[in-house]
Amino acid sequence: MNFQNELDARTKEAEEIVESFLPQKALHQQTVIDAMEYSVLAGGKRLRPVMMYAAWQMCGGAGDIKPFMAAMEMIHTYSLVHDDLPEMDNDELRRGKPTTHVQYGQAMAVLAGDGLLNYAYETMLKGALAADDKAAYIRAIELVAKKAGIYGMVGGQCLDVEAEEKELDLSEEQIKFVYENKTAALLQASLMCGALLAADERAAAVLEKAGYDLGIAFQLQDDILDIESTTAELGKPVGSDERNGKKTYVSYLGIEQARREQERLSQEAVEMIDSIEIRDGSAKEAREFLKELIVSLCSRKK
Ligand code: IPE
Ligand code: IPE
Ligand code: MG
Ligand code: MG
Ligand code: MG
Repeated sequence: MNFQNELDARTKEAEEIVESFLPQKALHQQTVIDAMEYSVLAGGKRLRPVMMYAAWQMCGGAGDIKPFMAAMEMIHTYSLVHDDLPEMDNDELRRGKPTTHVQYGQAMAVLAGDGLLNYAYETMLKGALAADDKAAYIRAIELVAKKAGIYGMVGGQCLDVEAEEKELDLSEEQIKFVYENKTAALLQASLMCGALLAADERAAAVLEKAGYDLGIAFQLQDDILDIESTTAELGKPVGSDERNGKKTYVSYLGIEQARREQERLSQEAVEMIDSIEIRDGSAKEAREFLKELIVSLCSRKK
């Protein structure tokens, strides 16, 4: 299968899995459930569940990874819903649709984010209770909690917002901290979860390093697209960073240097993934897919 067809098939599968774990209807809280569903079903590349699944296959995973794939997309979506709020980036378009607060109001968007975050943990814990190797599942949940929280995504968003509000002149080290945490952390968690649920801690350690490189390269592309793309193609407003007076790693390095850095990082990530010991043929296919995916993300258009 060629890469694009495989990516399409894997994305469709991830999409169906995410959809199958959305909450049931309820009487008095239906509006928040609708807002959660609206945010998740608005589209998106579904990269995190796709990566998690490929990492799991590469590590010879057995058992049920689906609740974790769905949960990771819920956590990622919650981070976007809150990131778009007027108090944060104040953006009105996401995944080609009005942002959750534009559609449902700010209070409901805050609650939809809260709902998605909690429901993600409920979903993972249910998966862990049903699993044979409960310890491996609990280790994966702890990892997700850390990478999504104050020592991960929330921590990165903290310095990102503070730098903007206080017009701080961040050092390169601080900018990298922001990237590592606001973006790389959830990508690392996705890859590492795949390895941990396959009870391969050694691979998880390698994937943490590869996920760091991938995350920095991924956010560099996000910032380049914010400058060079169009709102129609991107499905979210371009020029958001400039409007918010945000100094990004791209504004620090310049576009040419940023592209060279992306190239270097994605090659390094690919080499690390190549160093992981593999058990059989289907694991090898998953690894090849993962490597191509990482390289393709540096030239992605959305
Ligand atoms: C957007 O992530 C937020 C960043 C971390 C840059 P994606 O580019 O993966 O967004 P979707 O899920 O495809 O909408
Ligand atoms: C956001 O970075 C990372 C998140 C944790 C959501 P950005 O603010 O650059 O992401 P976009 O461009 O709005 O998707
Ligand atoms: Mg932001
Ligand atoms: Mg934003
Ligand atoms: Mg951006």
